Amino acid sequence: MDQKTTVGQFVTLEGAEGAGKSSLLVAIEDWLNDKGLVVTTTREPGGTALGEGLRGLLLDPDLSNVTPIAELAMMFAARAQHVSEVIKPALARGEWVVCDRFTDSSYAYQGSGRGIDASVIAAFERLMIQRFQPDITFLLDVPVDLGLKRAGEVGTPDRFEREQKDFFERVRAGFLDRAQTAPRIHVIDATNALSEVTGLALGHLDRFWQDLGQSNR
Ligand code: TYD
Repeated sequence: MDQKTTVGQFVTLEGAEGAGKSSLLVAIEDWLNDKGLVVTTTREPGGTALGEGLRGLLLDPDLSNVTPIAELAMMFAARAQHVSEVIKPALARGEWVVCDRFTDSSYAYQGSGRGIDASVIAAFERLMIQRFQPDITFLLDVPVDLGLKRAGEVGTPDRFEREQKDFFERVRAGFLDRAQTAPRIHVIDATNALSEVTGLALGHLDRFWQDLGQSNR
């Protein structure tokens, strides 16, 4: 197929710990490369020197009493730098950007998880990134116990992974509520085998890509 899109698209992956985002990110990158598209992959918090520095602080389990609003401000400081230094320039070059987590994570973790009002997060979103949004998002949904079990199998727990189960229940519910309000968010049942999760996501991506082709004709 020689269908081409000239405009880069911003794809984000969301979900709790242990949902399998990293594997899906690689599969999406391969799929887009096969279409001849240039892809930038990145992550949040992180993606720039400033962002990776802030990530080190945000995930540091020794920083035990970070206030929710300071945590939110650091997430958005990293994001503002990331959007202007990496994401927007790549899109402007016509590349696709695939990002592991973005603002939906702030609504789920700092909003639903930590209890910050959504209106406060929306204010940060306006001020720091001018409400810049993904074009398509995959939300990998897993029951909390299964996600924590999977995440616990890799490495020592970071500052978020040390939270209690009820925190992650609120985060999961927050993500699912948000998916109800934004048609760009596709919820994928990540209890399925990896191949099935990938297949479902790539099916949505293929339809999205076909629709772009239609509108460029
Ligand atoms: P990471 O190791 O990337 O988690 P995972 O492998 O589960 O994706 O760590 C990022 C952590 O930061 C994760 O626990 C979620 C959290 N986070 C927020 O709380 N708010 C945000 O806005 C973002 C982007 C991440």
